[in-house]
Amino acid sequence: MEPITTIQDLRLLAKRRIPRAIFEYADRGSYDERTIAANRADLAALKLRQRVMIDVSQRSLATTIAGEPVTMPLAIAPTGLTGLYHRDGEICGARAAQAAGIPFCLSTMSICSIEDVAAAVAKPFWFQLYVMRDRGFAQSLVERAIAAKCSALVLTLDLQIQGQRHRDIKNGLSIPPRLTLANALDIATKPAWAMGVLFGKRRTFGNLAGRAPGSDSLTTLSQWIAGQFDPSLSWRDVEWIRNIWPGKLILKGVLDVEDAKIAAGTGADAIVVSNHGGRQLDGAVSSISALPGIVEAVGDRTEILFDGGVQSGQDVLKALALGARACLMGKSFLYALGAMGEAGVTKAIDIIRGELDVSMALTGVTDVKSVDRNVLAQSGTGLSGAAASVAAAVATGQPGAQASAAASAA
Ligand code: GLV
Repeated sequence: MEPITTIQDLRLLAKRRIPRAIFEYADRGSYDERTIAANRADLAALKLRQRVMIDVSQRSLATTIAGEPVTMPLAIAPTGLTGLYHRDGEICGARAAQAAGIPFCLSTMSICSIEDVAAAVAKPFWFQLYVMRDRGFAQSLVERAIAAKCSALVLTLDLQIQGQRHRDIKNGLSIPPRLTLANALDIATKPAWAMGVLFGKRRTFGNLAGRAPGSDSLTTLSQWIAGQFDPSLSWRDVEWIRNIWPGKLILKGVLDVEDAKIAAGTGADAIVVSNHGGRQLDGAVSSISALPGIVEAVGDRTEILFDGGVQSGQDVLKALALGARACLMGKSFLYALGAMGEAGVTKAIDIIRGELDVSMALTGVTDVKSVDRNVLAQSGTGLSGAAASVAAAVATGQPGAQASAAASAA
């Protein structure tokens, strides 16, 4: 086997090693998959600005995310069903992230529970909250996150109602996973996964054990979500969360400037510009094209994080250039986990770290905290809509600012 050098390599390996229904849960988007494609395409279309002959011998990727020191501007996004990608996948992810010095965010829809992860790792992790119709239960999740000493609560704003992912239905994705006539051949070719997960100890939603009667017997995740998630969730509820959660609050799933203004007005410590990885409103703009407008509107009031198609250090650099403080990786994390478990996640973080470090140097920047629009080329972005206006803004930027920024950082 050729050495693994990219997130794409990890993706292809995961595709070979885990059942199709699980792989496609992460890999695919909602409806016609226009938005998931736009996330990647618009990132790819942004062009970086090559700079030469600047002393880049001393470089630093260290920064902070929501006040937390990190070794690089990356966090692991909350992802559902993580423990189905690898046995105890959430614990693998948390361990790899903590060893690398970046945050790990546990999803409400995880397989390992908050308590499982807290017992297995040394440092605090983040917890992502979905608010259920049963507010008492939502509150109990927050209390459990407090008891587990989670360092931030990530409230998801963009999934009151779930966008349909056709593949999950066609694949008959079930929680817990089951061996059926339809998937027997597929699973027979993934024996390591079957030993680790199908016959493993934790195979259903760890945080919901005993609380959501019947969740075990439902055939699709979407049906379960439709019944449990609260579609009446509104900005007023953010106030309620603020009152019951004393720590750092991160609001995830903002794509619109008006929403960003309201989100910033809640006093949240950070917001995540996101379209849920192209898994919700299909036809929505790409996450990267929404970023500059949101940064311009509220970047001075709250920290802006970014997700949506991040699969390389170059992608991270582009998001930072447009004003993000840091990026979250969801799919890239699950590919890595499905490919090689904890070692895969470590590999993915190392790959992105290396790419970011080198790309930063080749754009003439030595400190990740000083990355700005000057690392973007002035033309040829090929973007449309909001992203095109970014390109225009870059084009009117002052040439030479980059070199002086690099010089002062060095
Ligand atoms: C849940 O967050 C999902 O996107 O499936």
